[in-house]
Amino acid sequence: MLLQVPGVLTKAEVAQVRARIDSAEWADGNATSGSQSALAKVNLQLPEDSSAAREAGAFIREALTRNPLFMSAALPHTVYPPLFNRYGGGQAFGDHIDNALRFHRDTGVRIRTDLSATLFLAEPEDYDGGELVIEDTFGLHEVKLPAGDLILYPASSLHRVEPVTRGERVGSFFWIQSLVREDARRTLLFDMDLAIQKLAQGAGQADPAIVSLTGAYHNLLRMWSEL
Ligand code: NI
Repeated sequence: MLLQVPGVLTKAEVAQVRARIDSAEWADGNATSGSQSALAKVNLQLPEDSSAAREAGAFIREALTRNPLFMSAALPHTVYPPLFNRYGGGQAFGDHIDNALRFHRDTGVRIRTDLSATLFLAEPEDYDGGELVIEDTFGLHEVKLPAGDLILYPASSLHRVEPVTRGERVGSFFWIQSLVREDARRTLLFDMDLAIQKLAQGAGQADPAIVSLTGAYHNLLRMWSEL
């Protein structure tokens, strides 16, 4: 599933995060790469143990837990502490697939990356290029979203960031270990949850058919989730 989650941060919150990270010291982006993707990656990254990354990351994780669309689609078990990068002056990140496992030294967080997420922290009109291109079974998808919006996609997908030829692309990226490992199952639960919510708006939550469907949703979640 490829899903856009609008308004994870408000514009004011984006400005707050940008103020915190823009003034921090940035480093070569290859610090978090595997040896193969290091060859493809040219950008700047905020060191993951810096206080700016920690604070801005905690702020984003907090915003995610308040977002019902994100929670329903990702069914997060653990969200990796968000990282931050910036691309300008022709910088890019060539085709790669993210590492399957991630270990965060500082916090001891250790996850299997089921989902990848990018939160856009610059407005699309402020830079040229920088599209996130994601390949799935339906073909190529070019993603460039307003600041504050997030894209969620299976971490198993091949993806790249196109060269940024004007201005600067600033973003946060991170991974999620989901309670439901398999994308097809997670997608089915998400579709079901959305449909139940729509039905409940019309008929009311006490409608016996909705009670039964809600029960079926939870019983599938119980069958498929891993804690
Ligand atoms: Ni990646």
